[in-house]
Amino acid sequence: MISEKTLNVLNKQIALEGNASAAYLAMASWCERQALKGCATFFYDQSAEERMHMMKIIHYINEMDGCAIIPEQAKPRGEYDSIQELFQIVYKQEKSVTAAIYNLLSISQEENDHSTTLFLQWYVAEQREEESQVRSILDMIKLIGSGGQSLFFIDQEVEKINQERLKEEASGEEYNQVL
Ligand code: FEO
Repeated sequence: MISEKTLNVLNKQIALEGNASAAYLAMASWCERQALKGCATFFYDQSAEERMHMMKIIHYINEMDGCAIIPEQAKPRGEYDSIQELFQIVYKQEKSVTAAIYNLLSISQEENDHSTTLFLQWYVAEQREEESQVRSILDMIKLIGSGGQSLFFIDQEVEKINQERLKEEASGEEYNQVL
């Protein structure tokens, strides 16, 4: 049983996660065009992750005998001034998703919806990880600086993150971290 109020906000979260997936796809494509292979891989993976976040909510709502609403897709921005600007946008976006999850959690608690409160714990941990990762990339960009050669090093550092992520996925570590 899921309350009407919680259901409405969960359905809004489906749209937020779907829009995040589309935004990261557009970013991946932009990075690919700039020959930033590491950053492109990072965002293609991130886009797939956000889609997975969206799918989890769809399945959860339907499992709880609610009706998951598949939203219209907002057209994502396709051009960016720089890789710094792009990651700043990502950070802002992740912070707004975190705020939406916290709001959702408060509503589920007010509604005594214990199942949804438990379900959302995964998202709280996932957001903490995502925000922290983007913040560390922004710090790294600040250290390396901007310019042609800097881009090469930034891309290499992001590729190292991709490799770490692959290792974590292979060992199941990522799965355990977000539980
Ligand atoms: Fe699923 Fe990064 O928000």
